[in-house]
Amino acid sequence: MALIRPMRLADLNDVVKIEKASFPRPWSHNAFITQLAKDASVCLVAEVDQQVIGYTIATQYVEVWHLLDLAVREDYRRQYVATELLEFLFELCGREQHRGYTLEVRKSNRGAIKMYESFGFICTGLRKGYYSDNSEDALIMWKDSEDMLA
Ligand SMILES: CC(C)(COP(=O)(O)OP(=O)(O)OC[C@H]1O[C@@H](n2cnc3c(N)ncnc32)[C@H](O)[C@@H]1OP(=O)(O)O)[C@@H](O)C(=O)NCCC(=O)NCCS
Repeated sequence: MALIRPMRLADLNDVVKIEKASFPRPWSHNAFITQLAKDASVCLVAEVDQQVIGYTIATQYVEVWHLLDLAVREDYRRQYVATELLEFLFELCGREQHRGYTLEVRKSNRGAIKMYESFGFICTGLRKGYYSDNSEDALIMWKDSEDMLA
C-alpha cells in the first residue's frame, strides 16, 4: 500500500518523469509549480520506499472540483494506486460543501473511464476534437458530491 501525502516541490522531478511517460502532451514542470502555488488546488502523491509512484491534482472553481491530472508509474499500475489517490482526494474535498467533481478523459482511455465509473462518475457530454495531438474527443465526466446525494 502506498503512502498518500501532499505533493512537494522536491517531488517534481519524479512527477514530471511519470507525466512524460504517461501523456502525449505532458504538463511542464512549471505547470505543476503553478498548481502547487494555488490555494484552490489539491496536489497529492503516492509514495513507496520514498519514491513517488503516482500523483493527482484537482482544483476548485465555483463549488466544483476539477480533476486536472492523474497518473501512476507504469510498473505500479493495476495495484490500486490511482484508487488510493482518488479515495484520499474525495475524502479531503468532501470535508467542505461543494457540488461535485468533473474531469475530461480521452474517449479511447477505457481503463481510466472504467475506473472513474467505478467511483460513480457518469459521462455527461463530449468535447469534439479536444486533444490537439490527434484531435481525439474528450468525454466530460461528472460525479455528485456526497452532500448532493444526501
Ligand atoms: C489510468 C491510471 C491512472 C490508473 O491507475 P492504476 O493505479 O493502474 O488504477 P487502479 O489499479 O486503481 O485501477 C482500479 C480499477 O480501474 C480499472 N482500470 C484501471 N486501469 C485499467 C486498464 N488499463 N484497463 C482496464 N481497467 C482498468 C479496473 O477496473 C481497476 O480495477 P481491477 O484492477 O480490479 O480491474 C493509469 O493507468 C495511468 O497512469 N494511465 C496513464 C495516465 C492516464 O490515462 N491518466 C488518466 C487521465 S484522465
